[in-house]
Amino acid sequence: MSFDLVFFGGTGDLVWRKLMPALFQAFRHGSLPEGGRIIGVARDDLSDAQYRALIQSRFAEVEGAKRPSAEEFARFAELLHYVRVDLSNPADYGRLAERLRERNAETVVMYLATAPALFTTVCEELAAAGLNTPQTRIVLEKPLGHDLASNRAINASVRQVFEERQVFRIDHYLGKPAVQNLFALRFGNALFEPLWRRETIANIQITIAEELGVEKRGAFYESTGALRDMVQNHALQLLCAIGMEPPINAHADAIRDEKLKVLRSLKAWTPETLSQHVVRGQYAAGGVNGRSMPAYREEKGVSPTSRTETFVALRTEIANWRWAGVPFYIRTGKRLAAREAHIVVNFRPTPHAIFQTPRGAANQLAIHLQPKDGLELHLFAEGQHQRQARGTAQMLSPAHLDLDFDKRFGTERVGAYERLLLDVLDDRLNLFVRSDEQEEAWRWVEPILDHWARDTEGPRPYATGTWGPSAASAMIARDGFCWSEEA
Ligand code: BG6
Repeated sequence: MSFDLVFFGGTGDLVWRKLMPALFQAFRHGSLPEGGRIIGVARDDLSDAQYRALIQSRFAEVEGAKRPSAEEFARFAELLHYVRVDLSNPADYGRLAERLRERNAETVVMYLATAPALFTTVCEELAAAGLNTPQTRIVLEKPLGHDLASNRAINASVRQVFEERQVFRIDHYLGKPAVQNLFALRFGNALFEPLWRRETIANIQITIAEELGVEKRGAFYESTGALRDMVQNHALQLLCAIGMEPPINAHADAIRDEKLKVLRSLKAWTPETLSQHVVRGQYAAGGVNGRSMPAYREEKGVSPTSRTETFVALRTEIANWRWAGVPFYIRTGKRLAAREAHIVVNFRPTPHAIFQTPRGAANQLAIHLQPKDGLELHLFAEGQHQRQARGTAQMLSPAHLDLDFDKRFGTERVGAYERLLLDVLDDRLNLFVRSDEQEEAWRWVEPILDHWARDTEGPRPYATGTWGPSAASAMIARDGFCWSEEA
């Protein structure tokens, strides 16, 4: 299959940090279809050779084994090309059109790794240059808007030019191997389905914790914040994967229909839940491993009086027969105690106890997304062989089954962006977000944004290297539960 994969924002951060390394891995694994071109598009005046040199210099920052040798890069570089386009200048699109017509590839992918403010213009100009052919696919990176209205406006302008089947909205969390495994666990195995419901599950916790701060993205982050950056998309997609009903088949729309139903079933906010069930925080200065880290307000591009949240914890419910009354907790933040993403399913305790178990403990299924990729099933077992006083119940010890997917399947597994880019080339929409899902997610987070805009308190400061403000623990404690690391 011949393809042209065009990266708008071709010299930008996302391209060299994520997309090029992912394509290189696909190339190295032999899974990139032959006969393709990767075309960087940006405003800089570069030749193909200069673009290749630029990408090569960036590869120097890629970690260890994933970095290409000089020979490998030379072979990969043959795929790389460059076209200078000022995205707001209609005349420049002609140059791109010419370059694409040289080849007339069977598949043309336009990957918009640019500021979303440019999406509408780019779509219009692509159409004006006759580049919205039936074999064209368009990939949109998040953030797709900053609220429901702007998201709708982007989707509407894309729809003017492309059909929904041509639109690939990326949420790279859906490409993570652990998320594929969550679908496999739930819909490829019969074991857990009877347990996957309110009668057996006490609560579900979704944590996406990062150790890093906002790094060089202070200016972007100031107008975004953790709710828009992580909750509206990644965390809600994980919630959908864990809470959705089994789809009727594995086709894109069957899966997306079920995810949409979850989003539509999320409990509507009330003034009370907005103040009781949502906690926002902002990292303060602190020391990590002897290094002192600046507060968020001291980061480059950030206002010294900023009210932007770098942490969110919230509680919600999926109001349907399966889940009514089960709390779902979401927590995400920067500069936290660890880089760790996991979903913890806490089961109810046994209805009648004939053994003793450690206080507050119950069975748990932990789905690890990163850095570990695996499943842990926490059980109780007789392990201590202790002498036991007459008349006392036997004490059981926690023990767990540990399935480490990296060990089981090898670490050379397909990464999120590699998987998603190959899916775009293969025309598989399963792991991409449909416009109605996205709009529903915005509809649900918007009352939180509105509440914060009115709230005079602002985000609560938390020390770098902790699990966020103590109000997040207080929130979950009110339900009689605790976060997994506090157990
Ligand atoms: C991005 C956010 O979508 O996801 C970043 O914009 C965040 O702020 C990143 O750091 C986290 O992705 P990952 O794959 O490193 O967990």
